[in-house]
Amino acid sequence: MPVLPKFLPLLALWGLLQASSSSFANPHEEPEVQTLNPGPECFKFNPKLPPRILPSSKKFEGSSDLVHLRYHMGPVLSSPINIYLIWYGKWAQPQKLLIKDFLLSISSNHHESPSPSVADWWRTVSLYTDQTGANISRTVVIAGEYSDLRYSHGNQLTRLSVQQVIASAVRSAPFPVDHRNGIYLILTSQDVMMQDFCRAVCGFHYFTFPSMVGYTLPYAWVGNSGKQCPEVCAYPFAVPGYMGGGGPGSLSPPNNDVGVDGMISVIAHELAELSSNPLVNAWYAGEDPTAPTEIGDLCEGLYGTGGGGGYIGQVMKDKQGRTFNMNGRRGRRFLLQWIWSPVLKACSGPNALD
Ligand SMILES: *[C@@H]1O[C@H](CO)[C@@H](O)[C@H](O)[C@H]1NC(C)=O
Repeated sequence: MPVLPKFLPLLALWGLLQASSSSFANPHEEPEVQTLNPGPECFKFNPKLPPRILPSSKKFEGSSDLVHLRYHMGPVLSSPINIYLIWYGKWAQPQKLLIKDFLLSISSNHHESPSPSVADWWRTVSLYTDQTGANISRTVVIAGEYSDLRYSHGNQLTRLSVQQVIASAVRSAPFPVDHRNGIYLILTSQDVMMQDFCRAVCGFHYFTFPSMVGYTLPYAWVGNSGKQCPEVCAYPFAVPGYMGGGGPGSLSPPNNDVGVDGMISVIAHELAELSSNPLVNAWYAGEDPTAPTEIGDLCEGLYGTGGGGGYIGQVMKDKQGRTFNMNGRRGRRFLLQWIWSPVLKACSGPNALD
């Protein structure tokens, strides 16, 4: 399933709650529980934030009996995963480097990325297997990049035209058609609109149609919501305006870029689902394959131990107040949502306390 901005329908309800609640009016009353000191310049905390309405994760949280995540016999990405990046629109070099550092952190070792790390986080994803018992690969590489600087299909994309963007990219050298190990990641800049972006989706994954692209290729799209709807798609680095307009309640992003730091958790969500359900016939819960609940959906909005009911879980803050929950390569830090573990039958991440 796509990453959905699930708290939108709650606008009205939240407005009502606000009328009788002072907890948001004075954010300094929000509990910030200082516990273990994870390092000289960090402390752990579990901030209370305006709630996201997360039907799946909230309902299933801590109650594995309710989750019927099942394997539907299709393939998972068990060979080393080649990511082909399509930068659609205008991207600044530091933004590209940040996203690439995240992607390259998935396979980085412990010397490069201290625990809790992005690589540790991907270990949960790699617990999923196909019918032959092959696990999802722990090797993820950036196999190619393509910049669509001229907005080849305009600045308003649809679920179908995004496939034409991929078709243009694979037609251009040196971007191969890699239907064995390839996944195609289309990232749109903040001035690009996408059908349902902000209203219904922050990102989605699917596969291309042979009639559009010539091949069946698993792909994901994620947009930079920085200008359009950070309070929807870069949560918790921005909170809705009726709750204080990105001021009180929002958390400081780990790399000082609300839009891109917000995208990274959405990219993480989509990559985890793309790997475990690339053709939408492998791992998902629910009976409806057109609206599957996948391994990222089950844990949306959870970033640490003790999350739920308006809490995102215990995460860390550096001395500048920037929030993160895991380390990546080159000293990078990221805030990534947790993933459903098939072993623990619960949401899990490397920064868990137990
Ligand atoms: C592969 O998946 C199985 C089942 O979840 C798990 O027990 C095992 O540890 C995994 N192996 C690797 C190498 O990740």
